[in-house]
Amino acid sequence: MKVNGKPTRTIWVEAAPAGGPGAVGIIDQTRLPHHLETVTLTTLEDAAHAIKAMLVRGAPLIGATAAYGFALALHGNASDARLTAAYDTLYATRPTAVNLRWALDEMVRVLTPLDPAAREAAAWTRAGEIADEDVEICRQIGLNGLEIIKEIAARKNGAPVNILTHCNAGWLATVDWGTATSPIYHAHDAGIPVHVWVDETRPRNQGAALTAWELNNHGVPHHVIPDNTGGHLMQHGMVDMVIVGTDRTTADGDVCNKIGTYLKALAAHDNGVPFYVALPSPTIDFGLSSGFDIPIEERSGDEVSHIWGRTPSGEITTVQITPDGSPVANYAFDVTPARLVTGLVTEKGVAAANREAIAALFPERVRAAA
Ligand code: MRU
Repeated sequence: MKVNGKPTRTIWVEAAPAGGPGAVGIIDQTRLPHHLETVTLTTLEDAAHAIKAMLVRGAPLIGATAAYGFALALHGNASDARLTAAYDTLYATRPTAVNLRWALDEMVRVLTPLDPAAREAAAWTRAGEIADEDVEICRQIGLNGLEIIKEIAARKNGAPVNILTHCNAGWLATVDWGTATSPIYHAHDAGIPVHVWVDETRPRNQGAALTAWELNNHGVPHHVIPDNTGGHLMQHGMVDMVIVGTDRTTADGDVCNKIGTYLKALAAHDNGVPFYVALPSPTIDFGLSSGFDIPIEERSGDEVSHIWGRTPSGEITTVQITPDGSPVANYAFDVTPARLVTGLVTEKGVAAANREAIAALFPERVRAAA
């Protein structure tokens, strides 16, 4: 997508001195929306830190960063032991998004059979392919989701299609386009009037900080809303569809996504609002049936007890919003059962959220997981 008119991805390879370690550029998402800053990663530890501290986040981008981190790790030592160390370090960064494991498994699959002398170059090639594949997958998700928005628009006689989304499943969460936002960008670019309700997404505010920043940049009409507003909007016919991303969806169609997604699905179900999940196939865990077997990340309580933002004087600061001594809990994800999901918008088409429909779109992945 464009930032200040310039086509921009969330992760890219930077020029590095010949024979020296490689370098990868990222947008530091902890600084948005108030500052657009980039960071250069040159080591395995840099990449692991970027994922763990959420300079990069969102399931597909976590996967792409892990792939580049793997390539960075192999400079000067591409032994079998180094492959294992790189895998373990990156795998330990965040537990829920399955794209991380998918990308690491993919790197190991490609690199292990090679002579160690050939591994570093091959790692850069495969990491670049994973990033490029993500862009194309997200573009296809957008085209498939566009058909859903078109159908709703056709019933609205030119009135905007109101779309509610949670967290940031935008281009910042992927390499480009986004998952949930890709259909929205495609619709907007095709001249279909759309308006987005952006859940702020406490505690880290990925909606308020990141999705709103993206939509603003692209000129898509939107309002940021407190997380508990969606039910009210749905009761009053102000939401035509919900579309969210996911960090891991099981072979049976249970959807794990940012905490609060489940409540939106319940409200959508109660009000007859279609609830779609946009996802690339590397987000499907073909080895898992129940969403309740997905590890749910628990993060620092500081994210709940404190909030950061910009003061009127322009200072970026963090303030405490809970009383001293009040314990907090910070579960980062929840599970929406398949029965509440209207459809899964993938790069291969829209599937019902059940084992048969998912397997029909991705038979080769089902075979590989067997
Ligand atoms: O904790 P985050 O910001 O990494 O969580 C991100 C989400 O929950 C996204 O909705 C999900 O990864 C889908 S991104 C295309």
